[in-house]
Amino acid sequence: MLSKKVDTNRPDTPDPDLAPLHASRALNSPVPRYQLADDEMSPRAAYQLIHDELALDGNPLLNLASFVTTWMEPEADKLLAETLSKNSVDEDEYPQTVEIQRRCVNIVARLFHAPEANQYVGTPTIGSSEAIHLGGLALKWRWRTRRQASGLPAERPNLVMGANVQVVWEKFCRYFEVEPRYVPCAEGRYVLGVEEALPLVDGNTIGVVGILGSTYTGEFEPIKELNDALEELNAEKGWDVPIHVDAASGGFVAPFAYPDLEWDFRLPLVKSINASGHKYGLVYPGVGWVVWRDQSDLPEELIFHVNYLGGDQPTFNLNFSRAAGQIIAQYYNFLRLGRAGYTAIMRSLLDLADHLADAIDGTEHFEVIGRGDNLPVVCFRLEDGCRFTAYEISDGLRARGWIVPAYTMPKDIETMTVLRVVVRESLSRDLCDSLVEDLDRVVGRLDRLADQGAEPEPFQARPTGAGPGSPTTGQHGIC
Ligand SMILES: Cc1ncc(COP(=O)(O)O)c(C=O)c1O
Repeated sequence: MLSKKVDTNRPDTPDPDLAPLHASRALNSPVPRYQLADDEMSPRAAYQLIHDELALDGNPLLNLASFVTTWMEPEADKLLAETLSKNSVDEDEYPQTVEIQRRCVNIVARLFHAPEANQYVGTPTIGSSEAIHLGGLALKWRWRTRRQASGLPAERPNLVMGANVQVVWEKFCRYFEVEPRYVPCAEGRYVLGVEEALPLVDGNTIGVVGILGSTYTGEFEPIKELNDALEELNAEKGWDVPIHVDAASGGFVAPFAYPDLEWDFRLPLVKSINASGHKYGLVYPGVGWVVWRDQSDLPEELIFHVNYLGGDQPTFNLNFSRAAGQIIAQYYNFLRLGRAGYTAIMRSLLDLADHLADAIDGTEHFEVIGRGDNLPVVCFRLEDGCRFTAYEISDGLRARGWIVPAYTMPKDIETMTVLRVVVRESLSRDLCDSLVEDLDRVVGRLDRLADQGAEPEPFQARPTGAGPGSPTTGQHGIC
């Protein structure tokens, strides 16, 4: 090929696409952080600044603290990118998105065994938190209507739940003026006890919460036992106290891993269920679901009929606008995985959690108190007499990039500190084994420091390429 002369005379102003980005003024001088900048900057510079700053965040892959999905298939990523600009509330404009939402609600309701004879209803939400507020409101409204119809006072509603509830239930009670009645946890019982719950129920109880997958340990609450005991109590007292199941984490685990476990609408008192699509529904953050057994369980007064952009639109959500992408991504998973795919994933996560629990048990420093028998979550605490804390373990792992939280258990057992690993789809067996090696190394290092009477210092990451096993193995007999 014959090449032509290239003109090297450049204009005075450098081509912004050719200017070196990292040495440019935009990136060398401070940017106003908490007030709007006076000047513009190029899209490249703005992107790079934010992109680089976010490198200070933890790595989502190594974030074992969260139940929330950090990986989806490239096809789901593509659909999400294609639908970023869609607002799911624009029903007239995006009727197919609405149809997909309808399909998802039906799939979720049927997955939870909503009786076919019923007119069940449901809605996508931003996550389980919004879903729980909606579920709680429906309980409160139904209770008030029942009380008023019987000529009884309806000023002092209460809600009965385990002290191990996620903070959203406390929020619901505070925001919507419901007295929270917590069933205390006890050493060895980290979820609601039915015997302990029943004495807290009375005629002002709007409902009892059953958690399918406690945030603290991953354990399922005894929802069938609760249903049976509450049925008897209702019959004896003439009450009509229902159950709402908080299946934020377990809603997409139990139907696949434990299909015979009765926790859902198979139980007559379960009137509403929430689940986080963005947890084991395997979608990125931003989607949850709430479904009611029958439309009579969702008081009509709570539904807004909005005449918006050309049509009647019934809504029951706290937010009006919301991104459509995650709803579409949820449908992608339903279609792509089906029952067989979800079952295979849940079984393999539970196997991996079991493997991890065995490995942690094997280190002899920890007592495993949640070993992935329900949710694929491993929860463990240091053996008594240990000379360092769970927080130091968590810090040591963090220096290597792992995010494994240490936290105290709920009231009445708050002196107990535990560590927790949430096993998600993105955690491979290989990565899991690396975590155990690092855990072993952190413990070894803390042991040595304790021997020297020294305060722990920031943990030094093992040079890459070092083999498995800790150089300190054999020095761990102290815990
Ligand atoms: C049992 C339980 N309920 C509710 C929530 C809140 O869910 P979301 O983060 O989807 O709002 C969580 C979150 O971890 C949870 O574990």
